[in-house]
Amino acid sequence: MSGRLGHLLAFAALRRGLQVRGLGRSPGAVKADLACSLESFITTTAYYDVPALRRAVTGVDAVICAYSPTPQMYLEAQLLLLREAENAGVKIFHAQTWNLNWHGIQFGDMEYYDAQISFCRQVELTSKIRPVYVFSGVFGEQLWGPLSGTFPTKRSDGTCTIDYWGAGNTKYPWTSMKNCAEFSIELLTTEKDVVDGKGGFFFVRSGYNTVREFAEVYERLKQVKVELIRKGSSEDLHAKVQELRRTNSPRRHCKWLGLLVADLAEQGKWSIGDYKVFENIQVDTIEDIIQEIDPEACGTTKAA
Ligand SMILES: NC(=O)c1ccc[n+]([C@@H]2O[C@H](COP(=O)([O-])OP(=O)(O)OC[C@H]3O[C@@H](n4cnc5c(N)ncnc54)[C@H](OP(=O)(O)O)[C@@H]3O)[C@@H](O)[C@H]2O)c1
Repeated sequence: MSGRLGHLLAFAALRRGLQVRGLGRSPGAVKADLACSLESFITTTAYYDVPALRRAVTGVDAVICAYSPTPQMYLEAQLLLLREAENAGVKIFHAQTWNLNWHGIQFGDMEYYDAQISFCRQVELTSKIRPVYVFSGVFGEQLWGPLSGTFPTKRSDGTCTIDYWGAGNTKYPWTSMKNCAEFSIELLTTEKDVVDGKGGFFFVRSGYNTVREFAEVYERLKQVKVELIRKGSSEDLHAKVQELRRTNSPRRHCKWLGLLVADLAEQGKWSIGDYKVFENIQVDTIEDIIQEIDPEACGTTKAA
């Protein structure tokens, strides 16, 4: 709960009058205004600190897993937490998702999400818990990363560049972290099947935009010239990913993760069909997100 989304989830729950219990190794990382509002905070030593997990899930109505996004946390850590939730009789388990739609790809399509697909299948095969999975696309605050394999790069003359592949017309689903937290708590408290412990796969989004649209809004709001640089065709991108895969160990999958996200986007794998609309939650816009991005923090400085 001490992480970025963990904080926002806790605040969203508290705003609705719910009691929140935190779990983590670092109670000191919880902001003071949140720490004093918690029912309690259970300190663990590691994700395999089973006694602490047990204390954390005992007597709660729902568990939300917002561990760091790594394959180890997706599979091993999350499964241990789910087992303790199951032993404690918890019916509502919000899985560690807020991802691009890995439910729509196959095992092996993306190394990083193989751990998620494995978790999902293992739970399906062995547990009575039916988790809630929420697919949000990319976090709005990280919009640029997967589109280009890098953040907007600032040149020494103050202008920015953003790389892209293909025609630049591919749309990416994205959701701000604040909206992710609000949507998830809303689902856990108002969606009948979820409240009844039936779980499900849910699709949410703040927006659905192309790299050109992001660049246009960024340029307008930040008053910075953004040059879009085409790195190659969709076929070039695919070949580059395959080459990186062929010449590296799967353990180095992060090396081609951004390119692979773009490659699968070019293949139409991330489109979201039937997404949930929450009438009572204000949806963030690209403008809201870009206002929060500090141009000074974008990318590394390159010679003009
Ligand atoms: N769609 C997107 O673009 C996107 C991007 C990022 C994340 N996400 C999703 O959002 C979720 C939350 O991400 P976040 O960015 O909020 O994560 P985060 O800030 O990295 O924080 C998650 C928490 O996990 C705990 N943790 C990390 N390593 C641990 C370990 N080895 N053992 C025990 N606890 C550990 C840490 O708490 P302690 O240090 O207190 O233990 C940390 O505060 C992720 O799971 C991911 O699925 C989506």
